[in-house]
Amino acid sequence: MSRTTNELRQAYLDFFKSHGHTVIPGASLVPENDPTVLFTTAGMHPLVPYLLGEPHPGGKRLTDVQLCVRTQDIDEVGDISHLTCFEMLGNWSLGDYFKEGAISMSFEYLTKVLQLPIEKLAVTCFEGDDDAPKDTESAAIWEKLGMPKERIAFLPKAKNWWGPAGLTGPCGPDTEMFYWVGDGEPKGNPKTHENEWLEIWNDVFMQYFKKEDGTFEPLAQQNVDTGMGLERVAAVIQGVESVYDTDAFTPIIEKITSMSTAKSDNDVRHKRIIADHIKAAVFMIADGVEPSNVDQGYVLRRLIRRAIRSARTLGIEHAGTFGSTIADVVIAQYGSHYSHLVKKQSGIKESLKKEEEQFKKTLEEGLKQFSKMVEKIEGKMIDGKTAFHLYDTYGFPFELTKELAAEHGFSIDEAGYKTAFEAHQNLSRAGAEKRFAGGLADHSAETTKLHTATHLLNAALRTVLGDHVYQKGSNVTAERLRFDFPHPEKMTPEQIKQVEDLVNKAIKDDLPIAYHVTTVDGAKSEGAIGVFDDRYGSEIKVYVMGDDKKGVFSKEICGGPHVSHTGVLGTFKIQKEESSSAGVRRIKAVVSGGPADIDTAGEAQG
Ligand code: SER
Repeated sequence: MSRTTNELRQAYLDFFKSHGHTVIPGASLVPENDPTVLFTTAGMHPLVPYLLGEPHPGGKRLTDVQLCVRTQDIDEVGDISHLTCFEMLGNWSLGDYFKEGAISMSFEYLTKVLQLPIEKLAVTCFEGDDDAPKDTESAAIWEKLGMPKERIAFLPKAKNWWGPAGLTGPCGPDTEMFYWVGDGEPKGNPKTHENEWLEIWNDVFMQYFKKEDGTFEPLAQQNVDTGMGLERVAAVIQGVESVYDTDAFTPIIEKITSMSTAKSDNDVRHKRIIADHIKAAVFMIADGVEPSNVDQGYVLRRLIRRAIRSARTLGIEHAGTFGSTIADVVIAQYGSHYSHLVKKQSGIKESLKKEEEQFKKTLEEGLKQFSKMVEKIEGKMIDGKTAFHLYDTYGFPFELTKELAAEHGFSIDEAGYKTAFEAHQNLSRAGAEKRFAGGLADHSAETTKLHTATHLLNAALRTVLGDHVYQKGSNVTAERLRFDFPHPEKMTPEQIKQVEDLVNKAIKDDLPIAYHVTTVDGAKSEGAIGVFDDRYGSEIKVYVMGDDKKGVFSKEICGGPHVSHTGVLGTFKIQKEESSSAGVRRIKAVVSGGPADIDTAGEAQG
């Protein structure tokens, strides 16, 4: 029975709902309060605080679909199974069911709901090492359910262990599920026939916390974190060769084909790259990213430019409407589930148009430079440094330089380019690693304090500047908080001082902090602040700072965690107030002098 991608997404959520899971909305692609990664890369990512024990308002069983962006496989994009932007279906147990429950539900879903023949399924389990024992328990559960022994492979940590996503954090052994995509009858298992078995689902048993010293400590709460690739499952169910041949991608690819005016040797791949990259760009822009030269904006820019480069090879016009034409098809396809795409359609198209126009200018300038450069070159070889310069300064994807070189009868010193590129990458990787060092699970005392300070700041800004202030963006590291909010002009020194004084008074008053669980409407009617978009689940947490006796200073929708009383923040100081973009101000602030140990706020009593 074939099913559309939209139907498969819904079927998964319905199945886990019927097994007692709360369906929660996927989070933004740009992680909130997590400076350690640029994009949400897995469904568990926004759930880290809850995996570490923070109660979730939806309870102990959750399910969702999370749009993810992963750029580490960017060079694989265009093969049969890799994407930079994909949907991950997931179900979680926060200290509720464990291996038996997770595996039997996975098995039921695969064989009963998706009706995949058991003969075409295989699984892998963790083979064990010094850190954790061989996972014979999972293997025994699979066998009991009917999985033949020869379809169960044991593999080492490199394959069958997931996380932590940063240097420290929750992690554990996993059991992965595969579907036979090889020719003829299924053979062996993913260990003996690696390339013929396609991974479709991963059940992670998050029972450890990896510490900074590299050792593993059992977690107080035994969790399950699963992730199923929606596009891959759709390919399997629809019986097509690649994720790009599924119903979700077909109209996008067809549109690209209709726009093409030239043939290239690598047609199929270029079309797939365009489809994947423009889809990723659409979702990124919808979540507030704009093309730029740093962080998320840089990744977005690179994706758009790579798509344009592929468009060139297919003879597609790219003077301003290329990206937005494809964006329309992407939004038509995904808008029914991701309604924010429809709401933001014109802004998304505008942003793509601007970047395309800008790149066209850069491209023209770069082409001039390129011609000048080749005039100066003796012989027929462009050295690696020059090729890298075009990439670094003009944003020329390497393939583009290579093509231009070929057109002019030149070749490129690819090894030299690689060396120049890697030197640069090492530099940026050093930066990236530093970002990572905080760990995805950095819910340290310092970040928790700064997170609480963010709420106090938000409330104080509203008092001083007015109710038009709300959190447009927030980013907390262990060193500082960063808060973006709409406000038409620069704050005066007096206003900055007033805000600081208000926050410091709230700290001095040592306000108690607690949360309660309510609905979005409940939160609205009690006057809690929060960005009321459709991202919230039906049950949400409201953190209240202050009480009847001392006065309520802040009431805000938030997942937590927070400190249990404001006194531990020490002293609050605004270090910088600057423009972030048109009509948006940015504050960077710190706290200092509080105790190193803190308790986190619990649920309000009574
Ligand atoms: N976190 C795991 C993964 O990304 C399972 O969801 O595969």
